[in-house]
Order: sequence, then C-alpha cells, then structure tokens
Amino acid sequence: MGVVVVAAGSGSRLGASLPKAFVPLAGRPMLAWALETVAALPGLRSLVVVVPEALADPSLPPWSAVSLPVGAHVVAGGAERTESVAAGLAALDPGCDVVLVHDAARCLTPVAVFERVVAAVRAGADGVVPGLAVVDTVKTVDADGVVTGTPERTTLRAVQTPQGFPREVLLAAHASGMVATDDAALVERTGHRVVVVDGDPMGFKVTTPEDLERAERLAGGPRA
Ligand code: C5P
Repeated sequence: MGVVVVAAGSGSRLGASLPKAFVPLAGRPMLAWALETVAALPGLRSLVVVVPEALADPSLPPWSAVSLPVGAHVVAGGAERTESVAAGLAALDPGCDVVLVHDAARCLTPVAVFERVVAAVRAGADGVVPGLAVVDTVKTVDADGVVTGTPERTTLRAVQTPQGFPREVLLAAHASGMVATDDAALVERTGHRVVVVDGDPMGFKVTTPEDLERAERLAGGPRA
C-alpha cells in the first residue's frame, strides 16, 4: 500500500505566515501529526509527501519539527490540489497495489479511518471515501445566488480523506487531465464505482483559524 500526503496548499484562509501544513498544532506542525498516523499503518510500502516548491528540501528549517518516516519521498506540488496529487503519484513506488491520498490538513484523522478505507479497496471497490451524514440542509445555487435545488439530505455525505483506490484506477483517472477538489470525483467521472465508508468527526479539515483552535483543543484529548 502507498500513501500520498498532500500538503502543498498555501493555507491563505488560515492567515498564517507559513504554508498550512507547517503551522503548529499543539507545538508540532500539522504535517507531523498527519505523518505520525500514516507511518504507523500496517503494510505501508511507499510514502510521498507533497509540499510547496519552496519547502521541497526536507533539510530546510520548517522541517526540523517533522519526523519524516524512513524512505519517504518529498516532492513539490502544483497550483491545484489535483496537480499536487499527480506529482505525488508519479513519485510513488509502482509496486503499490492500493493507493491512499490524504490531506495533511486533516491532521487528526484516526488510524481506524485509514484501515476502513484500505479494507474496502481490498474488498474490491474502485474507489473508497470516508463520509459523514450532513446535518445542514444543502442548496444548489446559480451564479446570482438563486437557489436551483434542494438535494434530499439523506442522500448527501460530507467526504473526507484518506481516499483509497487501486493504483491503476487512480492513475488512469489522473491521466484524464480533469481537475476536481477530490480524487474520487475523477474516478467517478471515469466511470468507476466509488463507495463511502464511515468517516470520523476527528477527520475534519483545518481551514480557518477557528478550525485550528478546535484542533488544538482536540489534540490534547485521546486519539482513536
Ligand atoms: O485547499 P484544500 O483545503 O482543498 O486543501 C486540501 C489539501 O490539499 C491540503 O492538505 C492542502 O495542503 C493540499 N493541497 C495541495 N496542493 C494544492 C492545494 C491544496 O497539496 N495546490
């Protein structure tokens, strides 16, 4: 199994001076928290960490607080998340049968979520996403803010990472040249069946300063 951790976002919504993945959470960069979980996964064969080009050298100072697992590769990402994932995939050991893609910004995702995703890929799924039921009613809108629809809430899931795929399926989806905010969307659009497994509230994405405060509070508590 191989894992691509994408950490090349600027984090402009967080308003920090460092790229988001290197912003400290309870004294350690968010990336360090995410890598600690990934490094503990049974069957991990290859790990690629995708970071902003300016930080692609792990001897640079922001890396000093991140323990990079032995054998992990660090590569530069792109302007869009899809480009960053593609850069990571290109550096992954081609012998990996299953590939997980994980957002470093979901730095507190419990290991059990990774295990559920891997198990579902190994059970034959073309794509697996962790998801949570949506508590708000969600509207679709047009460019003028006029509501165009109200999807039935019970059919909606808020999805997280890690997202898992057979390596060949994910490579083919990325070769299509499409861009999306998650990898499953590319796999869905190439005609594959993607399934949802239970996500976890701890798998939320740190995006705003309020999210970072919440993560700080939770990081002190027990982790699954
Ligand atoms: O921007 P967004 O919140 O969707 O980012 C989700 C994850 O993708 C983050 O971990 C971020 O570092 C990563 N990302 C990336 N390259 C980009 C944009 C986002 O690796 N160009």
